[in-house]
Amino acid sequence: MRLNGTMRINDRGHLEIGGCDTVELAQHFGTPLYVMDEALIRENCCRYYRSFVEKFGKAEVIYASKAFMNLAMCCLVEEEGLGLDVVSGGELYTALRAKFPPQRIYFHGNNKSREELRMALEAKVGRIVVDNAQELELLQELAAQFDTRANILLRITPGIEAHTHEYIRTGQIDSKFGFPLPTGQAMSAIKRALQLPSLVVRGLHCHIGSQIFELESYRYTARVMMDFVAEVTATTGLIVEELDLGGGFGIYYASNDSPAEIEEYADIVMETVREEAMKKGLLVPKVIVEPGRSIVGPAGTTLYTIGTIKEIPGIRTYVAVDGGMGDNPRPALYGARYEAIIANKATVPPTQVVSITGKYCESGDMLIWDIPLAPPSRGDILAVSATGAYNYSMSMNYNRLGRPAVVFVRDGEADVVVEREGYEDLLRNDIIPERMKRKRVVKLASMK
Ligand code: LLP
Repeated sequence: MRLNGTMRINDRGHLEIGGCDTVELAQHFGTPLYVMDEALIRENCCRYYRSFVEKFGKAEVIYASKAFMNLAMCCLVEEEGLGLDVVSGGELYTALRAKFPPQRIYFHGNNKSREELRMALEAKVGRIVVDNAQELELLQELAAQFDTRANILLRITPGIEAHTHEYIRTGQIDSKFGFPLPTGQAMSAIKRALQLPSLVVRGLHCHIGSQIFELESYRYTARVMMDFVAEVTATTGLIVEELDLGGGFGIYYASNDSPAEIEEYADIVMETVREEAMKKGLLVPKVIVEPGRSIVGPAGTTLYTIGTIKEIPGIRTYVAVDGGMGDNPRPALYGARYEAIIANKATVPPTQVVSITGKYCESGDMLIWDIPLAPPSRGDILAVSATGAYNYSMSMNYNRLGRPAVVFVRDGEADVVVEREGYEDLLRNDIIPERMKRKRVVKLASMK
């Protein structure tokens, strides 16, 4: 397993993160447990801020909160000077409750409801990223009711296919997101938006996909979008002040993943936009990027306790942990690969190849196939790395398992930022209708 951020092996032979012994974390907080390396999240935020905003000016970094969000994370992002991308009333509500400055919030989504748009207008979020023609009209209607002018970006689908899993790529025309550029719908939307008195078109947005390694995809996207900016200005006279190029920067999960550096990504994006603006005699727009995974992904590690070990001679050894697809649905959903070590045997050579399964009632509940590990035993602590993005945020209660707790670790201190769900939490929204209660009484009476 690759050691990310502050990870190290301590002199007890245990994996340590943020100065905390992970075996002690598991004992103290229980498992499964999401452990987030706070220093690494902050470092990633800083690297983005420095390489886009400080180095080039006229740039903004917006953390895509769908990757991992809770109140503490909103506070951290605010402190690090980034903005926030939210895609639902729930994400917006969390941000507002964390007192995140509304002006730095961008509201995304392909099917925002009337209530969500109202909430965004009421909170005066910085930008609403309009996804489709119906939303454009709806937002005009609501903004007029609020007697305000909403600052918007229009989400464009540039027709770019980035090399990534089909479910996570979004730039191609056949997508539920955005106004397609090649069909002319994007240009029509801009013309329409410019007629709507309660909307102010600040710029354009696009997002070509997620877990992208090829920086060329970003260069190409920036060019395609700048061509479109030129066309928009020539056709409508609109000065495109802002160009949001979305997120998607890939990270290392397992061998075969070869991410570039954030700084290289920044240089390519920012330089391409500048060059294209110069060539075309356009104002250089403010560039916005929306990283999610690359800020939190490598900073997360999930700790599990090993339970049942089942060997099928000559075939495979299944090592079961006390979580699985409910806390990390990515292997089941996307065939995602992960690396792991036994946290309490971190110096023991990985001499046994095993497959890690969860405890959910589903054969597809596999976390890692064929991974070399130190010989595992019941009670060992398994640490799976790079689980910081789209794990906690995509976790679920299948089989009525509670979601794990989340702890932030830093300088030897561990703080719970999300509590573990207990059995009572699982019942929180359940209601037995009165008529069922009555029937039960009758049945019980007749059983006597
Ligand atoms: N901006 C927009 C408009 C997006 O749709 C996304 C991700 C991002 C930014 C952030 O992308 P990132 O930097 O995190 O790649 N659940 C999938 C990923 C879905 C991504 C959805 N949109 C997974 O687990 O891989």
